This record gives sequence, structure tokens and C-alpha cells, in this order.
Amino acid sequence: QEVFDLLQFDVTHALPFLPENWLSSRLDGLTEARNLLERGNGLGGAFTGWVDLPASYDPEELQRILQTARIIRGQSEVLIVIGIGGSYLGARAMLELLTSPNYNLLRKKTPQIFFTGNTLSSDALTELLDYVRDKDFSVNVISKSGDTTESSIAFFLFRRLLEEKYGREGARDRIFATTDRREGTLRALANQAGYATFSVPASIGGRYSVLTAAGLLPLAVAGLDIQEMLAGSADAMGVLRQPGQDNPAWQYAAARNALYAEGKLIELLACYEPHLRAFGEWWKQLFGESEGKDGQGVFPASVEFTTDLHSMGQYIQEGARNLFETVVRFTVPQSSCLLDPVPGDHSGLDFLRGKDLRFVNEQARRGTVLAHVAGGVPNLLLTVQERTPYWAGQLVYFFEYACGLSGYLLGVNPFNQPGVEAYKTNMFALLGKPGFAARREDLLSKGPS
Ligand code: PA5
Repeated sequence: QEVFDLLQFDVTHALPFLPENWLSSRLDGLTEARNLLERGNGLGGAFTGWVDLPASYDPEELQRILQTARIIRGQSEVLIVIGIGGSYLGARAMLELLTSPNYNLLRKKTPQIFFTGNTLSSDALTELLDYVRDKDFSVNVISKSGDTTESSIAFFLFRRLLEEKYGREGARDRIFATTDRREGTLRALANQAGYATFSVPASIGGRYSVLTAAGLLPLAVAGLDIQEMLAGSADAMGVLRQPGQDNPAWQYAAARNALYAEGKLIELLACYEPHLRAFGEWWKQLFGESEGKDGQGVFPASVEFTTDLHSMGQYIQEGARNLFETVVRFTVPQSSCLLDPVPGDHSGLDFLRGKDLRFVNEQARRGTVLAHVAGGVPNLLLTVQERTPYWAGQLVYFFEYACGLSGYLLGVNPFNQPGVEAYKTNMFALLGKPGFAARREDLLSKGPS
């Protein structure tokens, strides 16, 4: 059997805030949660297709993704990725983690990639439409339901621009739709217009879909090794699905559940790399949508250090004591930046002579953990070796699996999002969408909002 390293979870700096039995008292609950995920017979069990996805990935689909990515790269200066929520956050998180938040400035042989369809801002959409007007571009529209207003509007606008530029036939060769295999407006439109399509399996909800074509196609266009990513997630899956108190996903789910019970209602995902900022957005959706229901759930927030120590640091250190932190840390450096101030150069940095910037960042992390723990903020630490597709695959699977366990431990359905409908119903009513007349009357009777 192949031996590999697994990411590591460390609860040491949360122990002073936890009762002694924080894990042992939750083993029965975790066993039950794990069985529900395995058997797919818990709340929302029809949406647990992601649990064995890394091992069951269709090799033909993978080849088609790689082939399509080559076509897109060959014909496009820009790829416009249209999607909202789970239909873009995973791809964006992985792109920024594995390349850079400055990908569009730094990439050399691959297209620029812009994410849109995640806003109704006319300024943002107009700006991007203007930007690509005189460039060769392709569109990957991603919507599992195929009916989401934000992505439908963006697709309408970019499709119209493609047809103006390249004609109907030409546009058809530049549109790639990722949607449900059978249902929805986008599926019907794609079939009728003859667009190349990929599917999001019916058993996988948006926020668990980064390892489907929804995430993999844009990442392959950026030249990232998606096969390595799947290999990393498959390795993590092999370990994390095994029951036991040494399982890091069990420990993380138990620790956050226990901290919540101790009144730590807000979890900050913290990192010391700007590359993880978008990952924080993906993670927030994963946990926020999975657990925030029935009047319950840890509120997920994210911070990037040391940047946010100069904005949020005061609150974290001394504000309301209802926070805990989960730090994601990479151990293997990708670059070196030696600090070599010359004596008398007035930089005030003589004490750092000969040190690498990585060392400075690591001391900032250590100092921050100690300060925050002393200030009453429990710290959980997740250590990942490298910022590579393999390790990113592990990281994704770890959080997805821990989130499934954590949701069941809390007693909620981790795979639905009924609360998201409330704003949509009101918006449709105010826009006069057919079928929402009664709601419209009701809203207007309440006076100005
Ligand atoms: O996690 C989810 O299910 C949601 O965030 C969806 O991904 C989001 O609402 C977009 O839905 P769709 O892919 O159907 O356009």
C-alpha cells in the first residue's frame, strides 16, 4: 500500500477552553454522523455524492475536461467564468491558492480568468463586458439548477456579446455550460443551441462541487494539475472515512462543536498567505450554508494575517469573547526572501539581518497564537505541507468531510439551504416576476424598505 502524508490537525491551543471529555463525549455522535455519510440515509442524504467522488471520478469526463481546457486555452485571451455561490467559489479559491490572487497579471501562457455572474452590479458587469469587447474570449457558464438569476443575467449579456462578435455559430464554439444532466433552463438552452456541456451530478450540491467539472474545468484552463488534486483528495478520503478518535476530521468537527457549546459562536478561518483569502470565501459558504439553520450554527468568518491584525486584531484580542480561530498553515516554502539590511541604512531592521521573510511570518503566527490564546481565543491549527494541487485536494476533502460530520453532529441537514430562498422570493415579487403577485402586494403594503 502506498504511504503518504496527511494534513495534520492540532487542538493543543484550544484545550484550555474545552472540557476534558470534548472528544470522548462526542464519539457516539461522530460514529452516527459518519454512518449517515457512508450510507447516505441521513437528512439530505441524497446529496452525499461528493463523499466517494475522488475515487469514483469518470475517467472519460476527466479527459474531456482536459481536452476542452486545451481548446479554450487555444482560442481565448480571456475565460469568463459565470456562476454564483458553490458554482464559482471553489474554482476561485483553488485558482488563487495554487497560482496567485494576481493570476491575471502574472500568468503567461494561459488565458486570464474572470469570475462573474456572482453580482447584480451593473457597474461590475459593464466593466467586464467592456474589457473583453476587443479580446478573444470564451465563456464557461456554471449553474447546477440552470435557473439562478445572477448567473442567467450575466450569461445573457456575455452570450449576446459573443454572438455580436463571432456570430451564432462562432459563439457556440466558445460557450461551455456546466449544469444538471437533464433539468433546468440552462440545460434546455445548451441542448437547443448545441453548446458543449459538462454536468454537476444530481447528488452533489453547489458548495461540495469543486471537484466536479464546476471547479475542474476553469482550473484546467489555468493549467493546474487537476489529476493531482483528485489524487490528493482521494488519499485524504481513504483516511478520513475511517472511524476513530485519531481521525483529524473527527477531531476538528468535535472541537468546533464543543467550542460552540462553550459559547464560542464565531469561527475565524485565519491564514498568513494572501493566496488563501479566496479559500476563506469558499470555506465560509461551505460551513455557513451547511450549518446555519434551525436557529443554530457557528458563524464562519475569515481573516488574513498579518494584514487583518491591523484592522480586526484589536477586536480579536479584546472584544466579545465568543470567537475561536482555525489557522491554516503551509510548511514547505515556495520562495525565499532574504532580509539583508546594511548596518547604518536606517531601516530599523538590523535585528532581522540574515533572516528569511518566511521566518518572520512564522514568528508572527506563533506570537499571534500565544496572544490570542492569552486573550481568550481558542486556536485550532491545520498544517498542510505544500501549496500544490495534491495538498489542495486534501484540504478540500478535509473541510468537506468535516463539515458533513459537523452538521450531523449539530443535528441539522448539512446539504440544504432553504434560507437562501427568502431574498429571492422578495426580489422576484418586487421585480414583478409572474407567480409572485400576492407576495408583491404583501411587501408593498409594508411601506418603503
Ligand atoms: O451551495 C449551493 O447549493 C449554492 O450556493 C449554489 O451553488 C448557488 O446558489 C448557485 O446555484 P446554481 O448552481 O444552481 O446556479
